[in-house]
Amino acid sequence: EKKADLKDMLTLKDYSSDQINDLLSNAIKIKNAFKLGESYTPLKGKILGMIFDKSSTRTRVSFEAGMIQLGGSAMYLNGKDLQIGRGEPISDTAKVLSEYIDGIMIRTHYHHTVEELAKHASIPVINGLTDMYHPCQALADLQTILECKGSLTGLKIAYIGDGNNVAHSLIIGAVKMGMHIAVASPAGYEPNPEIVTYSKEIAEQTGGSVTITNDAVEAVNQADVVYTDVWTSMGQEEENEIRLKAFTNYQVNTDLVKHAKPDYLFMHCLPAHRGEEVSHEVIDGENSVVFHQAGNRLHAQKALLVELLG
Ligand code: CP
Ligand code: NVA
Repeated sequence: EKKADLKDMLTLKDYSSDQINDLLSNAIKIKNAFKLGESYTPLKGKILGMIFDKSSTRTRVSFEAGMIQLGGSAMYLNGKDLQIGRGEPISDTAKVLSEYIDGIMIRTHYHHTVEELAKHASIPVINGLTDMYHPCQALADLQTILECKGSLTGLKIAYIGDGNNVAHSLIIGAVKMGMHIAVASPAGYEPNPEIVTYSKEIAEQTGGSVTITNDAVEAVNQADVVYTDVWTSMGQEEENEIRLKAFTNYQVNTDLVKHAKPDYLFMHCLPAHRGEEVSHEVIDGENSVVFHQAGNRLHAQKALLVELLG
């Protein structure tokens, strides 16, 4: 039964705290062996198809590099070039790809598309970002915090900005690990209420907590981690002007991080816009771990690929 719900990675909701813990400890083992130059090729001969309906640097390169390092290979599939782009049903695409390859990673707009793909594919489907979730990012984020702080339980994350895909996965991952997460967003840009309700229920079981506020200082107060993401996500470009105004008072800058613990970590999924959601002093400062975090995309996803495709 455990294997059954582990066919895919659509959202961290489907993973128990134990399963997330296992992925994180495997990610750290795989990383350490890789840094020592040891060869580890459990996915010899396996092929991952990577469908992209949106741009990517980290997700694309880390999944492809990860597959090659694990002994397999990966194929970049631009959604526009596939027949999906001309209206072929997702369900047919899922069945056809299942005949050829061993797993699918997809980055697209609607979360429903990824669910539909997973439902009809007999091979694992991994969510590489939808408008709703970014679970692979959250795994790398948790790995980074674990490596920097030694443990996760009881730590406080402050997420400042848009209650978006990255925030949703971070909230779910944090509460599953018994962490406290405070999210500060402008009115109208708070995280999805259903995800907040779900996460509050999980937090009651794990000893974590979720706080939703419009007050950035309150959220950052005594935080161990200060996290932000872009104000305008992919697909929202037309809202850019309105969003720049709405988020003006939510920049993570030197004044704001004074309220965090002195040894706080600054995190960002990247790409970043210096001067918008974060000042360059903070993202390029000594508390920033953004490149360590980006690096962990590779290792966390390798652990996931071994689990699902191995
Ligand atoms: N953080 C992240 O997913 O980056 P890319 O958009 O470059 O993949
Ligand atoms: N929230 C951003 C994350 C990019 C990795 C977006 O969806 O564009």
